[in-house]
Amino acid sequence: MTKSTEQLLNMDRNTIFHSSTHLKQYAAGELPGRVITGAKGLRITDSQGIELIDAFAGLYCVNIGYGREEMAEAIHEQAKKLAYYHTYVGHSNEALIELSERILKLAPDNMSKVYYGLSGSDANETQIKLVWYYNNSRGLPNKKKIISRERGYHGSSIASGSLTGLPIFHAHFDLPIERIRHTMSPYYYRRDVDNMTEEAFAQLCADQLEAMILKEDPDTVAAMIAEPVLGTGGIVPPPKGYWSAIRKVLDNYDILLIADEVVCGFGRLGTNFGSDLYQMKPDLMTVAKGLTSAYLPLSGVIIGDKVWAVLEDGTDEWGAIGHGYTYSGHPMGAAAALCNLDIIEREGLVANARDVGAYLQQKMQSTFADHPMVGDTRGVGMLHGLEFSSDKYHRTQFDPSLKVGPQIAAACMEKGMIARAMPHGDILGFAPPLVATESDIDLMVDITEQAVNGVMDSLVKQKLWA
Ligand SMILES: Cc1ncc(COP(=O)(O)O)c(C=O)c1O
Repeated sequence: MTKSTEQLLNMDRNTIFHSSTHLKQYAAGELPGRVITGAKGLRITDSQGIELIDAFAGLYCVNIGYGREEMAEAIHEQAKKLAYYHTYVGHSNEALIELSERILKLAPDNMSKVYYGLSGSDANETQIKLVWYYNNSRGLPNKKKIISRERGYHGSSIASGSLTGLPIFHAHFDLPIERIRHTMSPYYYRRDVDNMTEEAFAQLCADQLEAMILKEDPDTVAAMIAEPVLGTGGIVPPPKGYWSAIRKVLDNYDILLIADEVVCGFGRLGTNFGSDLYQMKPDLMTVAKGLTSAYLPLSGVIIGDKVWAVLEDGTDEWGAIGHGYTYSGHPMGAAAALCNLDIIEREGLVANARDVGAYLQQKMQSTFADHPMVGDTRGVGMLHGLEFSSDKYHRTQFDPSLKVGPQIAAACMEKGMIARAMPHGDILGFAPPLVATESDIDLMVDITEQAVNGVMDSLVKQKLWA
């Protein structure tokens, strides 16, 4: 490296607008920065030589781990052969054709076609357009509202950010846009009533959804979008019976289900898709992250046969569909995805996510279930959330100004591990690469335990918590 870390960070502060950052404090040098210089397996390295074990796989995306030569070679080979050509009006490329067949083989049986983008956000924009086009084509121009969920995360562009159900993504941006509604979150731990089974809570969620549909008028509601397991909203697996109860309501009112598989897709839950694990039977699916393990940007909208048939009819009536991205079906992304899926298959990473994931769940439970500061420990496969509570028996939250979640994430970082302070509540998120082993999990849990105990001692010492 020719420039020092300080020089690089100064240039960075002068030139770059970073996501989810206090812009003024960062520009003024009041917030730390970090220049990442390399990564291998589960670990990233920064410009000062600090190595960190990444228990969140970037942003739950580097599923095969960092620094795979094979991926670099596949991308290199494709770049030499064909770095780019567009996919408008029937143009295609071999990598993309192979990839699409492969995705459809992995996806549930009713899935018919794939449309490609570059991010989860743009894929969900496409979803909204397709759902609106679908109902226009069916002669139902009023059936356009889309129901998402509080605490859902679907992106941060204008329409996908509107689907997102976290206030920080709406406030001061004049979002959400019209025709988007948010129903209650399937967040059993934060239920209002103590004495309620998971099944009863799942039914309450379905009843609330139905009440919303009836209030809005079913003839105006087109689709529901949801992650199989809530991710950014707090890593919350659905309560027992949730998806079958929701699906029943949607079927009664001719409402499509879009499964946002951006986090869950390609193995994270120990199955190919979250839709398989929970038998969601979606009409449309969104994929991104794990499709290429983030070696290159690539997302997809997978369209079920019921919707596809209507889209075809629409073009019969109105001509070629008015949707397209310059980079849709980019050959380099497709080559990266094919190599990534090869690695996942060859190394049995879906089964590893299931087995090592079960170990992660059990280890977190045995370490933290009785911890005085941990209110909830929950997860599935290689996805886990620890929720901190000032009074675990009453599920009381800490005063947000104490920033308990961020303090614990910072303590983990000091001990050499990245776990994510989730943006809404004192929740620490874990989503290790799917290649993690049981001994990697032991290390992660061990570091977390030290970090939690350290923050607990400091809160007690400062008399901020008894
Ligand atoms: C479930 C889900 N959908 C969509 C997105 C948006 O993806 P992107 O950040 O690639 O736009 C994310 C990102 O974290 C996500 O978790």
